[in-house]
Amino acid sequence: MSSALSAVARPATGSTPSGPPTTLYGGQAGRRVTVRDIAAAKERGERWPMVTAYDAMTAHVFDQAGIPVLLVGDSAAMVVYGYDSTIPVSVDDLIPLAAAVVRGSSRALVVADLPFGSYQASSQQALETAARFMKETGSHAVKLEGGRRVLPQVETLVSAGVPVMAHLGLTPQSVNAFGGYRVQGRGQAGDELMADAKALEHAGAFAVVLECVPAELAERVTTSLSIPTIGIGAGPSCDAQVLVWQDLMGLTERPAKFVKKYFDLAGAMDSAVRSFADEVTSGVFPAPEHSYR
Ligand code: KIV
Repeated sequence: MSSALSAVARPATGSTPSGPPTTLYGGQAGRRVTVRDIAAAKERGERWPMVTAYDAMTAHVFDQAGIPVLLVGDSAAMVVYGYDSTIPVSVDDLIPLAAAVVRGSSRALVVADLPFGSYQASSQQALETAARFMKETGSHAVKLEGGRRVLPQVETLVSAGVPVMAHLGLTPQSVNAFGGYRVQGRGQAGDELMADAKALEHAGAFAVVLECVPAELAERVTTSLSIPTIGIGAGPSCDAQVLVWQDLMGLTERPAKFVKKYFDLAGAMDSAVRSFADEVTSGVFPAPEHSYR
């Protein structure tokens, strides 16, 4: 086994065999975070982070760092597959990524995004797609975009035992209907979004992502719901915050205004790969210690 793969397979350290996490972020439980833990965190008024993940190694790093929820976002369309929107990505494209994230993690709840066209047609279609993610990847929940128009789908999934994370505001699968990536929920649209959020909670969603909405609206939604809100470009009042990992690590060339860059990964990778190339061309690498006798 390569050193990289054995690192992925290593069990979590510092964990206890059972029992609830003391906190969602950085808790010490030796088991997966569940939707019940997430509900309990809302009751405690505890904030938590979510990040996207698309492969086993980064999932392992985030999991070991204590990130309680990993989202296999359909943002993979852009950051993994190189499309210019999330619309082209398919269920077959996302299934191997979600399976890898589950294999690379041992503590986080893994949420798989249902891609465009895989759930809108009917509740039956949504259930078939969600069943594929649950059976073929081991994901623990699914996410879908939309408000009252997807309530039948949410109700069907929940009654089939599939935890559902909802997504309101700037739902990227509707970018063509919105006429671009723009802030949603201003003015009267805020009341519509609030009604959507309440309907989704009533239908059994366990959390709702609020993307690119005014901070004041996100605060009102957060205080009105008993399920957690997860903000991305939704201000500081949400119960949780999510970022695409390539955005927060500084790999994305032109990130959105709501992104905070925590690291210059693009710069670090550029410098490392140039050093490698220089050492290859000059004959410095491989040295004797990298060679076999
Ligand atoms: O696909 C994704 O990564 C998402 C998050 C940005 C919420 O939906």
